[in-house]
Amino acid sequence: RSLLRNELPDAEVMVVSNREPYIHNMESDQITVQRPASGLVTALEPIMRACGGTWIAHGSGSADQLKVDSSDRLGVPPEKPSYTLRRVWLSDAEQDGYYYGFANEGMWPLCHIAFVRPNFRTSDWEHYVAVNRKFADAVVAEARTSNPIVLVQDYHFALLPRMVRERLPDATIVTFWHIPWPNAEVFSICPWKEEILSGLLGSSILGFHTQFHCLNFVESVDRFMECQIDREHSTVSASSGTTLVRPYPISIEWPPAALAGQPPVKECGDLVRKKYGLKADVRIAVGVERFDYTKGIADRFRAVESLLENHPEWIGHFTLVQVAAPTRSRLPAYRDTQVEAETLVQSINARFGRDDWQPIILAATHHEPDAVFTLFRSADLCMVSSLHDGMNLVAKEFVAARDDDDGVLILSTFAGASRELHEALIVNPYDIHAMGEALHIGLSMPDDQRRDRMRLMREMVGEHNIYFWAGRMLLDAARIRKRRHIERQIA
Ligand code: F6P
Repeated sequence: RSLLRNELPDAEVMVVSNREPYIHNMESDQITVQRPASGLVTALEPIMRACGGTWIAHGSGSADQLKVDSSDRLGVPPEKPSYTLRRVWLSDAEQDGYYYGFANEGMWPLCHIAFVRPNFRTSDWEHYVAVNRKFADAVVAEARTSNPIVLVQDYHFALLPRMVRERLPDATIVTFWHIPWPNAEVFSICPWKEEILSGLLGSSILGFHTQFHCLNFVESVDRFMECQIDREHSTVSASSGTTLVRPYPISIEWPPAALAGQPPVKECGDLVRKKYGLKADVRIAVGVERFDYTKGIADRFRAVESLLENHPEWIGHFTLVQVAAPTRSRLPAYRDTQVEAETLVQSINARFGRDDWQPIILAATHHEPDAVFTLFRSADLCMVSSLHDGMNLVAKEFVAARDDDDGVLILSTFAGASRELHEALIVNPYDIHAMGEALHIGLSMPDDQRRDRMRLMREMVGEHNIYFWAGRMLLDAARIRKRRHIERQIA
């Protein structure tokens, strides 16, 4: 907040994302508010709570669809409003084409190495263009000034930066791409690659989690666009202006809101053991994600099987509690992922389980942040085995939940978080045997080593928290604004 006050006085802040921070659902004649399972929301919501402004997002809850509450603007958070949620309504056809189709059957598999084939359909693309235009219209309509700071989030809105730039030329458009960017050869299969690149180059700043993804983007631009690349200063200049392309590894609120009110670690353990019927001598591992094929959930289950095969001393003494929120279930690849995982749990539990103990407990429902934090605090170990992930905030949340400095993190080398959390046990999620061994090493790790590792990770996340992330982007935005101001004075 003080950065905004000092460096960007009077700046109007707007966020654009597909996912809304508060989803309004209708349950037994009452409107309930749900916090979505979304890394993007986890990261940005505390920033908006601190800065105020307008967050433009798709109104997606069942209460919205039933038109119970169809006001365009709401003050949020509901208990203590500090910013405005402006909801954009989409038809079923728009939602199918733009969100399920182009964004999640095209861009998502294109950008993640998970060996799921991207599908590009012209009708999806047309909806994607139309919905980007609809959100760009909302930005222009909501802007109170001619030069707002517009924080554009993710692969749903690759075209929006240029659309906004054309209508608000003085806006500072900061786009953050929450998922990986593929290499130029992979990217070239997208039939609308030039449009996507040109759309993104409407941004003043384009951020990725890692330098590697920035380089992939610049390489794609170099191959497919007419533009000037200044590798020394990380800028790309095209007809729409100059874009600074930089890594800004995303993070979480520190301390996280969900930590307040948590019982002591010992009590969290008791609560979780009671809930899942786990005996006192059973060590607990946790996994928390959306049921997405990029998360490597089935491979994690195979690693549990490998642990029990190779280290039978853990039979009866180790359980993985896996929370997996159903997601994008209308798409076959997502339904298949869930079915594969459920089938695997049944077979592993049938093979090793007993009447009073199961090696894997799968809770395939959405859990609110408080429940997730209690689970993190109860665990000996947290397992993040993404096949590919931009960052993965679950890894950082686990670290943040452990104010007792305890707990082991097993982390995929293909998650951006592995570039920062060096004290995790870093694994290749395709190597099932190695992951099983990492479980054994984690469960057998001496107390002092566990604590030393956790302390270092906590220092890292505590320092490089979400305010640090936003601060770096906003400082770069402030510099760009000052430079433009001077340029205009000279002109
Ligand atoms: O990783 C990209 C992302 O947009 C995240 O920011 C978010 O956690 C996730 O996808 C959620 O997906 P959806 O909004 O489609 O449920």
